[in-house]
Amino acid sequence: MAKARLKAPPRELTTVLDFVRYAATRFGAAKLVFGQGTQDAVEEAIFLVFEALGLPIDRLDPFLPARLAASERRKIFSLIEKRIRARVPAAYLLHCAYLQGMRFYIDERVIVPRSYLAELLYGDLFSGENPLLDPAAVTRVLDLGTGSGCLAILACRVFPNAQVDAVDLSKEALQVAAINVSEHDFKDRITLLKGDLFEPVGDAIYDIILANPPYVDAAAVAALPAEYRREPLKAHKGGADGLDIVRRILAEAGAHLSPGGGLLCEIGRGREILERDYPDLGFLWLDTAESTGEVFWLTADELQQ
Ligand SMILES: C[S@@+](CC[C@H](N)C(=O)[O-])C[C@H]1O[C@@H](n2cnc3c(N)ncnc32)[C@H](O)[C@@H]1O
Repeated sequence: MAKARLKAPPRELTTVLDFVRYAATRFGAAKLVFGQGTQDAVEEAIFLVFEALGLPIDRLDPFLPARLAASERRKIFSLIEKRIRARVPAAYLLHCAYLQGMRFYIDERVIVPRSYLAELLYGDLFSGENPLLDPAAVTRVLDLGTGSGCLAILACRVFPNAQVDAVDLSKEALQVAAINVSEHDFKDRITLLKGDLFEPVGDAIYDIILANPPYVDAAAVAALPAEYRREPLKAHKGGADGLDIVRRILAEAGAHLSPGGGLLCEIGRGREILERDYPDLGFLWLDTAESTGEVFWLTADELQQ
């Protein structure tokens, strides 16, 4: 069957702003799903248009009135169509995503970075008057389920004296992490390890363990929208109630923490279940701009009881 030819972009669209507006309207009308690096149709439109043009997404205003060349109009129009028809998240179309202003290379071998841990790492947990730990004293960090390597790389920024071990079960994810580690120039500080949770690190001890594990429950995995089904399933599947891997982390983390250290873990919506199943653990629940009670901090003391 002959391939349908892509229509030309409407002639009335000439400026960057025109294309952002057009994309946002089309995305909204098509009822796309967001949350993979952008929150809504307008954010996704801005990201797609600016990134496709190689423009800085943190400096929109000067570029909005700029007129586009014919080749740029065609390129952006084709990306808008693909975003709608194939339900491919913009981050995969553009091969990049931002977390705390840092740019990461992304493709379908990894989940699109959006962990709440990023905001917490960069917030006042490890700075200001009463940090959970003095960031300068943190020398060993473990990132469990590193995916694109984004949290391991942020950790290098937040803990200037730390060496970071970054583990993933997925060989393909580690290939993407290697690209990011190299692009961010942290090859001497981050070690990428393939394996199942703590297995590849032996009996190593860390000051901080970071984990954004798969935590989507089986019913929600079965109902994932098309955009999320483009991501590796391994990054989502958390078992019947979503907490299979979280429970394994809770069981093993204590043996890998230094005195005074702790575990920072994202768990999705499973807070009530965890509090019911672990009544003696003193979870410190941490909120972010977009989440309530989806991340906890547990000290080595709590985990070693
Ligand atoms: C939710 S993603 C998080 C990726 C990255 N840390 C981030 O925040 O964007 C979970 C990651 O854990 C990995 N993973 C799943 N099960 C694992 C296991 N048993 N051991 C190690 N990694 C695992 C997946 O391959 C995936 O890359």
